[in-house]
Amino acid sequence: MSNGAYPPDSFELIQRKTDHIKLTHQSRTLPSSVDLRFNYEPLFFKHPDQTENWKSHFLGFDFDYPIWISSMTGGTEKAQVINTNLAKLACEFNLGMGLGSCRSLLESSERLHDFKIRKDIGSRPLFANIGFAQLAELVLENRLDKISDLIHLLEANGLIIHLNPLQEWFQPGGDRFQLTPVQVLETVFDKFSFPIIIKEVGQGIGPESLKALLNMPIAAIEFGAYGGTNFSQLESLRSNETMNLKKPFIHVGHTASEMVEILNSLPLGGKEFIISGGIQSVLDGYALKMKLKGPSVIGMASAFLEPAQQSYSALQEYFLQLKESLIVARDLLTIKKNL
Ligand SMILES: Cc1cc2nc3c(=O)[nH]c(=O)nc-3n(C[C@H](O)[C@H](O)[C@H](O)COP(=O)(O)O)c2cc1C
Repeated sequence: MSNGAYPPDSFELIQRKTDHIKLTHQSRTLPSSVDLRFNYEPLFFKHPDQTENWKSHFLGFDFDYPIWISSMTGGTEKAQVINTNLAKLACEFNLGMGLGSCRSLLESSERLHDFKIRKDIGSRPLFANIGFAQLAELVLENRLDKISDLIHLLEANGLIIHLNPLQEWFQPGGDRFQLTPVQVLETVFDKFSFPIIIKEVGQGIGPESLKALLNMPIAAIEFGAYGGTNFSQLESLRSNETMNLKKPFIHVGHTASEMVEILNSLPLGGKEFIISGGIQSVLDGYALKMKLKGPSVIGMASAFLEPAQQSYSALQEYFLQLKESLIVARDLLTIKKNL
């Protein structure tokens, strides 16, 4: 402009250009910080609009996004709000959800309101959840009908059984397995008419156990891999016991990335997978999903916890960012062959 004045709408532009100069020094990256997992392909990309989705098929359901809300809570005052918000999210965006341990419901319906979210989740997949220790106890007491009652009560589509031997060992007063999961699981499958998912809770699952699971008549395996929320660590924090000898066990296990490697070397026998445990970043979830040879969804637990406690709109806002980032990853990045 000849008189040196700028039109009002260029104020923002000037501010941006000033910021660029001010922030240049702080905005340098080092070649060594590049994420080597992806090819970046800008020539084939346009920004997604709000309606764009990533249709997937999992456990016989159509999903709008390959996201699973991993099992969390029940049995506390906050649980009802958290579970209701999570269920509404699964319903609005066509996702699936695992409940946290429903152990308390096996003996009493006092906490039923924490878990009874069928009306909020609509017709989306909802899985009840119990620990292996409770399953083993019911088998020994010949009371397996309690599980079918639970599924019926919650109008659940199936059951998640969590295996957590280290958590139980760390937990003050935790359960002790008197039989191994392989011994018990083989005896229950023909008693259940609904799909079963087996998961860990933060240590992941090793190669021989994965092989055994792949040969069982289950619908899916959820990783519950090492690298995210870790219940051995959590129980050790809760305990007053001096656990110096136990503590190194907190760090044994398998990351989701290692579990994908192991699974890709095995015949997957038609199983489906929830890739979970330490999936805080969309890029981690995307990379692992693209790499795993079997059908999968990305499972997240703790990342949903805070917004779900705040309000439904906070959770919605979080998810809108999550799904947009996932679509951007899908449309902009491919996985390097040697990843
Ligand atoms: C508050 C909280 C409660 C959890 N409760 C259960 C549970 O009852 N049953 C279960 O199978 N897993 C439970 N988990 C484990 C998660 O399902 C998941 O396997 C684990 O947190 C790793 O995922 P993340 O790294 O995304 O948190 C819980 C996790 C959190 C954060």
